[in-house]
Amino acid sequence: LTPKDLAGTTIVVTAGATWEHFDPVRVLTNPSTGLMGVLIANQAARRGADVRLVTGPAVPYAVDDRVRRETVVSAEEMQRAVIAMAQDADVVVGAAAVSDFRPRERLGSKAHKDDVGLNWEMVRNPDIIQSIGERYQGQKVLVGFAAETEDVLAQAEAKRRKKHLDAVVANLVGVGRGFGAGEYGAWLVTAEGPRELGGSKEHTAAALLDWIRERRAAGHGH
Ligand code: C5P
Repeated sequence: LTPKDLAGTTIVVTAGATWEHFDPVRVLTNPSTGLMGVLIANQAARRGADVRLVTGPAVPYAVDDRVRRETVVSAEEMQRAVIAMAQDADVVVGAAAVSDFRPRERLGSKAHKDDVGLNWEMVRNPDIIQSIGERYQGQKVLVGFAAETEDVLAQAEAKRRKKHLDAVVANLVGVGRGFGAGEYGAWLVTAEGPRELGGSKEHTAAALLDWIRERRAAGHGH
């Protein structure tokens, strides 16, 4: 029997890769499958939290019936959904792999290869968790992720400060590591420094939710 130790906590979780369309049939995306965010959402629901999950369009995992899920396509759509859902939430966890760029122009019909040039101009997408950090720092418990191929703890701490977050989950990524069900390791980086979270995504989700519960019990995010 799972203890309902997160009852009374409302959590927003983002998961998976966003898609940025060049035209109706081509997208810019990345290999994130959304597994980490779905595990956090499902475990939080089992532990009694009120969970809202915003996913990219291609997240293949089963989501617990108690989770309120909204599926979006682009980073801009994800940002709108998160801002609306975060308003009355206690906790926001950004586990999505949001595309940092989108094509400046999105063609309304399929581009044929002889009709277009090979250079597409890109523009920056909004940083969703940073915009939430700027608005709610100190009022909600805010968690981001940092996936890096090297120097991961220092990068995670830099992101924690820059984005105004309470904690950043740091992951080493690379070929066969960090994505989907590949090899995995994680650290939780907070103002108190880094500590190891566990060698599987299930353990990381559980340990992160333990930390969130303690943080709320200590009076944060109310
Ligand atoms: O800067 P970087 O993309 O490595 O930061 C990762 C963290 O920021 C994750 O929590 C991710 O969900 C979030 N992020 C975001 N919006 C972006 C880019 C990243 O919310 N446009």
